[in-house]
Amino acid sequence: MSKSLHRIGILTGGGDCPGLNAVIRAVTKTALTRDGMEVFGIEDGFLGLVQNRMRQLHNDDVSNILTLGGTILGTNNKCDPRKYVIQRNGHTETADVTDRCLEHIAHHQLDALIVIGGDGTMSVASNFVRHGINCLGVPKTIDNDLEGTDVTFGFATACMIASEALDRIHTTAASHHRVMIVEIMGRNAGWLALYSGLASGADIILIPEIPYDIEKICEKVRTRSRHGKRFSIVAVSEGARALDGKQVVDRVDPSSPDPIRLGGIGRVLAQQIEEKTQIETRTTVLGHVQRGGTPVADDRILATQFGHAAIKALLDGKENRMIVMKGGVVTDIDILTVADKQRLVTLDHPLVAAARDLGTSFGD
Ligand code: F6P
Repeated sequence: MSKSLHRIGILTGGGDCPGLNAVIRAVTKTALTRDGMEVFGIEDGFLGLVQNRMRQLHNDDVSNILTLGGTILGTNNKCDPRKYVIQRNGHTETADVTDRCLEHIAHHQLDALIVIGGDGTMSVASNFVRHGINCLGVPKTIDNDLEGTDVTFGFATACMIASEALDRIHTTAASHHRVMIVEIMGRNAGWLALYSGLASGADIILIPEIPYDIEKICEKVRTRSRHGKRFSIVAVSEGARALDGKQVVDRVDPSSPDPIRLGGIGRVLAQQIEEKTQIETRTTVLGHVQRGGTPVADDRILATQFGHAAIKALLDGKENRMIVMKGGVVTDIDILTVADKQRLVTLDHPLVAAARDLGTSFGD
């Protein structure tokens, strides 16, 4: 082991997702098998780095957490040290506190940072890379929208949860002869709605990448009704947009580097569909249920592989990489190439084509 790899800091940034603890466990257990290697857990993402809150992790700390949802370190999706929000004289201001973080890294003699997060976290990490800190990224998000990797951990669990919800909605929709809309997370990417919609045989799948025409949606509902299917299931991504391109925003959080929180499209659609088709329509918003609870086996395995690979990459002397899954192989790419990018569903994606061939409408 190189002398410069004695102490490693680890943090979880952005929204939580199932599998974070499995990564923390894999990183810590793998590191602690090496003589003299230590792991320091930074609390609440980059906020803990700003506020100098970190603690040493021992085997006991990561025992029994493989199946646990959330993150034992805590997380935060608002803190970017380049634009740290402070209150001064009753006013909200932002300040660049990168230097403060660098002091804390130096004080704890951290030789590298393992940052587990999505595009926002990788973007913040890239700032530290430019200040000479070796950052190793591990991609997570239920949205599955991170550039450079075929898949992020957390996605499989969220898909399973959304799919189970759609299945349950199916029976009540059929009983009441209703249109049932299920609003699914995913930000600007439709992966979660596409996968869970396909898994549960949704009649209509609406994703941000394919703008919908409300008339086409109603046409599908009416056609089904004429053929004796007096109910329809709509899986709608929270970021779905009509032909005018506008998304429905639930809230704007100025204290967050990514201030827009999407939500509410389900209710908008329900009103329009009911009005135009005269078929009773209801909406279920799945929300944060999709991010909670124990990870499915696939996510536990992926998270464990990623955590293990992160330590191996550092031991191999690699710098500023992000661990990825490419074509079934765990490898790594330059962390600077992924910051602030989103991997979206392509219009010719095989799953879109398959769903269309099966008669699923995308509202276009
Ligand atoms: O990125 C994960 C995610 O759950 C998105 O799908 C969703 O749009 C967003 O986070 C919600 O953020 P918050 O936890 O701040 O409500």
